[in-house]
Amino acid sequence: MLNIAILSRGAGLYSTQSLFRAARRRGHYVRVIDHQNCHLLIEQGVPQVIYHGSGLVGMDAVIPRIGASVTGYGAAVIRQFELMNVYTATRSEALIMARDKLKCLQHLSANGLNVPRTFIAGNPDAVPALIDKLGGAPVVIKLLESTHGVGVTLAESRVTAISLAETFYKLNRPVILQEFIREANGSDIRAFVVGKEIMASMLRQAPEGEFRSNLHRGAKAMPIGLTSEEEKIVLKAAQLMGLQIAGVDILRSLKGPLVMEVNASPGLEGIETTTRVDIAGAIIENVEEGVKTYDGIRKW
Ligand SMILES: Nc1ncnc2c1ncn2[C@@H]1O[C@H](COP(=O)(O)OP(=O)(O)O)[C@@H](O)[C@H]1O
Ligand SMILES: [Mg+2]
Repeated sequence: MLNIAILSRGAGLYSTQSLFRAARRRGHYVRVIDHQNCHLLIEQGVPQVIYHGSGLVGMDAVIPRIGASVTGYGAAVIRQFELMNVYTATRSEALIMARDKLKCLQHLSANGLNVPRTFIAGNPDAVPALIDKLGGAPVVIKLLESTHGVGVTLAESRVTAISLAETFYKLNRPVILQEFIREANGSDIRAFVVGKEIMASMLRQAPEGEFRSNLHRGAKAMPIGLTSEEEKIVLKAAQLMGLQIAGVDILRSLKGPLVMEVNASPGLEGIETTTRVDIAGAIIENVEEGVKTYDGIRKW
């Protein structure tokens, strides 16, 4: 039996509940801990996480479910557990890299994976020329940290693209400019990786008139099989990001499959209800394995 904490702000959320029940079913002691209520004692030799007034002790593993709005603090909490030699299902560094779309794409493309052609401009003056290099409008403009498709726009014309990019820069929110994969037809594939295995995959199709296939944007999902090339890419992407648990999103393009993003805290509701695969159970099993073979991380 393990002493497991799910780091989550919402004990009632589907993913949190699903993990909680799976851990219980497998006989573990499990709690949901709100990472924003974790306070960190940083002191030589005795790193501690203070929760409701006292230090957490005797933990075997944490399963982070950190929302995008609190990545920085969430990662600090995970790091603290790492310093306390508690196994974490998602490493703090991996979470940080996955949350930064640019860093993620840089890392994946540098290691041989195909990604949509992407530019980031050092200053807004360069934007028009970069749009031209992408072949002109339409072009996808994304905030570096977006989730649920909010912060992702399709600029249909060159003028719109330039003014959108200028607006974001003015607000000090740098953006990436990305080639629009029209042939994806408002769909993408979410593959769910646990450990070295793809547990389930689904095709997400945006509603009519929408290009973003996020389920939060009303997309419909159905189970789908992957080609062996896609399987290889998905597993490599998760491994390159240093993630045991990952949602890898792929666009089927004329150039072949492109990795669009790797999600370090992928939701369970869509994939479990669409594919009927017990992802949460697989995650808990993976954590059990991880704890067994874990020999501490206090390297730095
Ligand atoms: N370059 C692109 N070409 C075509 N569709 C895209 C492109 N980038 C994103 N999309 C669509 O928009 C959705 C949201 O983009 P994504 O980068 O995943 O942002 P988020 O992290 O907010 O989900 C994707 O699931 C996909 O359907
Ligand atoms: Mg996405």
